[in-house]
Amino acid sequence: MMNNSIAAILLAAGQGTRMKSAKPKVMHALAGRPMILHLLDMVRSLDVGQSVVVTGPGMDEITAAVAPVPTVLQQERLGTAHAVAQAKPLLKDFQGTVLVLYGDTPLITPATIQAMLERRSQAPHPAVVVLGFRPKNGGEYGRLVFGANGLQAIVEYKDATPEQRAIPLCNSGVMAIDGKHLFSLIDRIGNDNAKGEFYLTDIVKLAVAQGLTCSYVEAEEEELLGVNSRAELAEAEALVQRRLRAKAMAGGVTLTDPNSVTLNWDTELGQDVTIGPNVVFADGVKVASDVEIRAFCHLEGVTIASGAQIGPFARLRPGAEIGENAHIGNFVEIKKASVEAGAKVNHLTYIGDARIGAGANIGAGTITCNYDGFGKYHTDIGAGAFVGSNSALVAPVTIGDGAIVGAGSVITKDVAPEALAVARNHQMELPGWAETFRDKMKHLKKR
Ligand code: UD1
Ligand code: MG
Repeated sequence: MMNNSIAAILLAAGQGTRMKSAKPKVMHALAGRPMILHLLDMVRSLDVGQSVVVTGPGMDEITAAVAPVPTVLQQERLGTAHAVAQAKPLLKDFQGTVLVLYGDTPLITPATIQAMLERRSQAPHPAVVVLGFRPKNGGEYGRLVFGANGLQAIVEYKDATPEQRAIPLCNSGVMAIDGKHLFSLIDRIGNDNAKGEFYLTDIVKLAVAQGLTCSYVEAEEEELLGVNSRAELAEAEALVQRRLRAKAMAGGVTLTDPNSVTLNWDTELGQDVTIGPNVVFADGVKVASDVEIRAFCHLEGVTIASGAQIGPFARLRPGAEIGENAHIGNFVEIKKASVEAGAKVNHLTYIGDARIGAGANIGAGTITCNYDGFGKYHTDIGAGAFVGSNSALVAPVTIGDGAIVGAGSVITKDVAPEALAVARNHQMELPGWAETFRDKMKHLKKR
């Protein structure tokens, strides 16, 4: 194996007790994706050849989510060094740099890891590069202890002297370690300390005692936010959202009120897209260029072609495909349906399991009746068709190209192209009836 190659060990065996959750902590989502997958994605962007995730008992959910990345099981939670040791069967012959990352610290950036890798490659080629930071409140983090030859040790807060506790530079836990030494050093770590755990942090003093150099790189506290509770999850979410919005705006998207827009990790937005306030993007939304999404829309599993106008107050559900220059207006719900180029569905409508042909116009209050309590049925509306307001289209049903459906119709049979279909009671008219009626009622009231 090449010397400059990289492997990563992601620690995820923590139960996350403070999350008060049935699911493993690292499976909680940020911007719609489990934390552990954010981290794996970051790792992948660094060209890491091999990753291993360390899980605890009963965390098959993680194994399934990270596949094909392998997981190893840490039966008992005996400390961070013990957790890393579980990866030995997979990485014992690895000669490059091994990154140790925490599954619950998913906001770390590739640039920071890159800086650590660079430090490893510079003379004197430190065997261990620790990622340090200066938190506003040092709390119970481990502290970086320096001597004449640089970094000498990391002391855990519980084991630290008052002088050591006053050191502002803290251990983030993230390390880049020479694979040639990693497991021989880990094997020598003991658990004679305040917590009775095998501390990975002890690797620094053992490396130094062996004549190896250790060094550190610093990162911003914000990147190292650890998620231990729902409140911290929300903080991390806010940060991820800020990053996603900044990326969208840098890519040529206008957000009129960025802080109120919720993006998903996989949201794709084309150039010159404009997004109004309070718009939510859930999984799988792809928006082409020049689309306007007005205030208060919710979108999930949707593709929107260029020039389309959406909202305000539209709900686009999975399988909606909005064509070029199509208009979807207020209080319109669209599910598993394609609205082809230039078609308009502007007000108070439900379109499900349907095709709306190019240039068709769907009147206010149109409902595709797609479900009979058992199955879902398709409605096909041809190009240029016009559906009058308050029509119920009982699927399966086809409205031909260019056909017109009269307002208030309940359409149960196919309508031929260019035909008019009206399915409602005939209007009856009694001349003068209203006047007679009023006279009679006034008379009754007087008595
Ligand atoms: C650790 C560091 C500390 C650092 C802090 C930063 C050690 C001994 N201490 O302390 O210097 O300031 O992180 O947040 O490393 N894990 C396992 N198996 C275990 C134990 C932990 O997988 O047996 C995982 C946890 O799920 C977590 C990570 O390792 O993702 C860190 O463990 P945690 O118990 O939070 O360590 P800290 O006490 O916070
Ligand atoms: Mg911790």
